[in-house]
Amino acid sequence: MAGLVKSDTEDFIDWWPHTVFYQIYPRSFKDSNGGGIGDLKGITSKLRYLADTGITATWLSPIFQSPMIDFGYDISDYKAIQPEYGTMQDFEELIDTAFELGIKVVLDFVPNHSSDQHEWFKKSAAREPGYEDFYVWHDGIVQENGTRVPPNNWPSVFYGSAWEWHEGREQYYLHQFTKEQPDLNYRNPKVVQAMDDVLLFWLNKGVAGFRIDAVNHLFEDESLKDEPLSGKTTDSLSYDYTKHIYSRDLPEVLEMIHHWRQLLDDFSAKHPERPTRIMMTEAYAGLTQLADYYEDSNGVRGSHLPFNFHFITDVKGDSDARDYVYNVEKWLIYMPRGHAANWVMGNHDNPRVASRFGPASVDAMNMLLLTLPGVAVTYNGEELGMVDYRELSWEETVDPPARNVGEKLYQEVSRDPVRTPFQWNNETNAGFSTAAKTWLPVHPNYLELNLEAQKVANRSHYQVYKDLLELRKSAIMRVGRFNIEPLTRWVFAFKRSYPNFESIITVINVSDKEQLVDLSEFLSQPKKLVVEVSGVDSKYQPGQSLAASALLLAAREGLVCRLV
Ligand code: GLC
Repeated sequence: MAGLVKSDTEDFIDWWPHTVFYQIYPRSFKDSNGGGIGDLKGITSKLRYLADTGITATWLSPIFQSPMIDFGYDISDYKAIQPEYGTMQDFEELIDTAFELGIKVVLDFVPNHSSDQHEWFKKSAAREPGYEDFYVWHDGIVQENGTRVPPNNWPSVFYGSAWEWHEGREQYYLHQFTKEQPDLNYRNPKVVQAMDDVLLFWLNKGVAGFRIDAVNHLFEDESLKDEPLSGKTTDSLSYDYTKHIYSRDLPEVLEMIHHWRQLLDDFSAKHPERPTRIMMTEAYAGLTQLADYYEDSNGVRGSHLPFNFHFITDVKGDSDARDYVYNVEKWLIYMPRGHAANWVMGNHDNPRVASRFGPASVDAMNMLLLTLPGVAVTYNGEELGMVDYRELSWEETVDPPARNVGEKLYQEVSRDPVRTPFQWNNETNAGFSTAAKTWLPVHPNYLELNLEAQKVANRSHYQVYKDLLELRKSAIMRVGRFNIEPLTRWVFAFKRSYPNFESIITVINVSDKEQLVDLSEFLSQPKKLVVEVSGVDSKYQPGQSLAASALLLAAREGLVCRLV
């Protein structure tokens, strides 16, 4: 497939279309004061680690004041730092240090809902003038027998009705997530204005942009009609119960994205001394919608990077080469021309790579992520191949959707296993904290699996990751044209090439068996392959020459080679 990389548009010479965004989950990254919880000073102390690894951009999960029902995704003051994470001064120091190290900082913006402890919600509940319609309120329906029920059958994403009765106001309010996360009403211009103000506040502090949370939930159909049943489950409290045609992915979402893009572009234009401010949007939505987020059919630009979750949602441990190729191609086909592709390999809401694809796949998946064209998104710990701590007990479980479904089912939905503390070394609490108890337990495998050990080992996932970031600096990785093919049922390869540059080839075996492949036809040149990056257990060494006509790959092996 040709024509994917447009080096002639302004976007492609900017900082972000080829960056690796490293997601930090602040609560679990580094605790500086022994509280058992990660904090801002902890992050600042580790920015050097990011820089040494070759990371130049990070996005931070929420650091704002919050009762922590959903661990920061329930914000009670959008302009204040959560006290257990530090102070505004700590944040300013973080930004300054990041700037000195050449790292851009992107913050998580959670516009769909606030905390029920936010003063806006308290004022709205009290019907204070100016705040009456800040949230989505409804009387509900009084049935013939006199009982009052919610206005419709909408379930919340986190299980249970999406409506909660408010005793004070004597009305129901909408909450698409927990009941402590009331949905803001974006049909009210005052809400839009208040949120613009929040964005400008953080832009003025020097952030490079925002990751916009749950953006496709922003609007609901004004009729508040019942949604049709999906037929997937008979449990009316499960999010799968209805088809979310009135509560998600409404056309108005795109208008808000355009509005925020304008705000960012205006700010960038006014402050050219700092890099372009960008937005990345989180929506588990259809491909056509996500393509429209980039740029709609009228050519209006929106999200710089609508997160592409296909490696999380559409390929699994048992997927074959065709599934991978298909998923890569479909994103590139739908993405409007002149935009930057993006690939998300993990986040704080989904199982880790080692747990989704098996520990043997860690290097191959990082090779895939980091040699495709465009932006790569890495969740903290994936550079080490950290593993989900699935053995967490019900008593240790704190994630709200897991608590909501109860002791029998919590393991199916809990996001705690992917959020355990970062494994820095083999000391107390993996070097994350000196506390007697950390907010989530450290994975017991930290004694062997930790950064320090991987730094000194002969070969390690971390070193592979670092080598891949080094390789990404080369011009071919930025401008190289791209084509991908399944070579066999289990092996696929892709090529980055550009006239007068040596091509880079990535080959990946996604099966549990050794595979022998012939790359000659794919390469259509009788040339030699030289190993650039190989995995921890590979029998191939960087610099080694290989015959393209008979390449033997071990189970789950990936290889990145130069064509000479
Ligand atoms: C997003 C976040 C998730 C959070 C939810 C509600 O999906 O990634 O962690 O629970 O939004 O804010």
